[in-house]
Amino acid sequence: MSSEQPSLKNYRGSITVIDDEENMCKILNRVLNLEGYHVMTFTDPRRALDYTIQYDPDIVLTDIKMPELSGMDVLQQVKRHDPNIVVIMITAFGTIEGAIEAMKAGAFHYVTKPFNTDELLATLEKAIEHKRLSDENRSFSEHLSREYAKADIIGECEEMVKIKALIEKIAPTDSAVLIRGETGTGKELVAKAIHRASPRRSRRFVPINCASIPDTLIESELFGYERGAFTGAAQTKIGLIELAHGGTLFLDEIGDLPLHLQAKILRVLQEHEIQRLGGVRLIPVDIRLIAATNQDLQAAMESGAFRRDLFYRLNVINIFLPPLRERADDIYSLIEHFLNRYGQKMRKPHLRIQPDAVRALRDYPWPGNVRELENIIERIVVLLEGDEIRVEDIPSDILVPSEIGEEMALPSARDLSSSKADYRAARQQFETEYIIELLRKTRGNVAEAARLSGISRRNLYEKIERCGIDINSLKTQP
Ligand SMILES: Nc1ncnc2c1ncn2[C@@H]1O[C@H](COP(=O)(O)OP(=O)(O)OP(=O)(O)O)[C@@H](O)[C@H]1O
Ligand SMILES: [Mg+2]
Repeated sequence: MSSEQPSLKNYRGSITVIDDEENMCKILNRVLNLEGYHVMTFTDPRRALDYTIQYDPDIVLTDIKMPELSGMDVLQQVKRHDPNIVVIMITAFGTIEGAIEAMKAGAFHYVTKPFNTDELLATLEKAIEHKRLSDENRSFSEHLSREYAKADIIGECEEMVKIKALIEKIAPTDSAVLIRGETGTGKELVAKAIHRASPRRSRRFVPINCASIPDTLIESELFGYERGAFTGAAQTKIGLIELAHGGTLFLDEIGDLPLHLQAKILRVLQEHEIQRLGGVRLIPVDIRLIAATNQDLQAAMESGAFRRDLFYRLNVINIFLPPLRERADDIYSLIEHFLNRYGQKMRKPHLRIQPDAVRALRDYPWPGNVRELENIIERIVVLLEGDEIRVEDIPSDILVPSEIGEEMALPSARDLSSSKADYRAARQQFETEYIIELLRKTRGNVAEAARLSGISRRNLYEKIERCGIDINSLKTQP
C-alpha cells in the first residue's frame, strides 16, 4: 500500500492534468500518483487554469481537443502566466498536426493517446528536468542583481527602508516571520521578497489564504490525505505543506485559522514532520513559515481565539507594514512606479501627471492602501485620453468625500508651506475632520466606522483619543 503513495523521498513534481474525458483523468491520476507526482486532474479547463495560476505546478498535461477551451488556449494562458511551467499536449493517435503547432507555440512535447506508459513517464521525467533547469536559471538571473528582492518594494520612508533592510537580513535564516498590516499594505509582496532573497528561492513559495477556504477544507488542503481516508478520498493527495517542502509556506490571514489547526501547525513547526489525514506515517518536511494577518492577534489571544504558544513561535521576526496614509510621502514614488507599470502595459510610455493631481492623490486617506492606489492608477491609465493626467481624471470619490461640505473642506495643499511641521499639522487637521465626519455618518459607531474606512478598530480608537474627539457628541447628530 504505502509504496503506492508518493512520499517525499520519491516525490518528483506536480502535474495538472486536463482532459474532458473523466476516465482519462482517472487513469492518469493513478499512474502518475504511483510514480511520485502530485496530480490534480480537471475535466474543465477553466478550473484547471484557475488552479494552475494559483499553485504553479511544474507540468501541465493537457488534451488538445476539448469543447470549452482548446489545449492551444490553455497553452497560451499558462505560458503567459509563467513561461517556466512545462506544457505537454495530449493528442489522439494519428492527428499530431495540432501538437506540432502547439510545440511551435511553446509546448514542451506531446504524447499520443492511447498512452504508452513508459513513453509518457520518460517524457515527464525530461520535462521535470527541464523545469528544474529553467527554474535554476531564472533564480540565478534574478539574483544577478542583488537588489532584486527588494527592488519592487517601493518606499523610501524610514519604516519601509528599515523593513527592506530587515528582509535582507532575515532572508538567509529559517526563522518564522509574522507580517502584520492592514489590507493592501503589501504583506504578500514582502513574504515573496523574503522567499526570493532566501536560499529556498528555487523551491516553491506556496501561499494559502486561511480566510478564503472553508474550515472543513483547510485541513486537507494543508496536510493532504491518504487514499481512503474518508469517503471520496479516492486518491492520495499531497497537501500544501508537503508541496512547500524545501521552500516557503505563506499562511495568509492566519488569524482565521481554526484553533485545532493552530495546534497542528505549531506541531509542524516544532517537529518538522506531518501526517496526512488518515495516514500513520510521519513525513518529514522542511519548510519556512511566513504568516500574515490584518487582525489584532493580541486581542484574539485574549479572547482565546488564537493560541499564545503559536503566536510566540511565529513572532520570532515581526514585520509591521504601516498603512499608506501614515507614509504619505511614499505616495509619490508609488504613483511613479504604477504609472510606469501600467503605462508600459497599456502602451502609453509617456505618461505625465500634473502636480495638482498628485496632491489630490496624496490627500486621500487610502483605506485600501497600496492595492487601492494601484487599482486607481490602473483605472486612470486605462481611461486616459492623451498623456497627461489631470485632477479631472481622478475618480471623484477619491477627490473629496462629497458629504464633507464647505466647513469640512480638506486643507488645500496650496495653503501649505514647504515646512514639514505645517504639513504634519495639515494632515492632523485633515485626519481629525475625516474621523469626525466618519463617526457622524455612523452615529458614533466605531466598529462601523472602522469597517467603512478600512482603519483597524484599535487604530481608530487611538486616533480618536489623539485627536481629542468626543464620540458621545456625535451619537446624537443626524
Ligand atoms: N511597497 C510596495 N511597493 C510596490 N507595490 C506594492 C507595495 N505594497 C503593496 N504593493 C502592491 O499592492 C498590491 C497589494 O499588495 P499585497 O497583496 O502584498 O497586500 P496584502 O497586505 O497582502 O493585502 P491583503 O491583506 O488584502 O491580502 C500588490 O499588487 C502589491 O504588488
Ligand atoms: Mg494578502
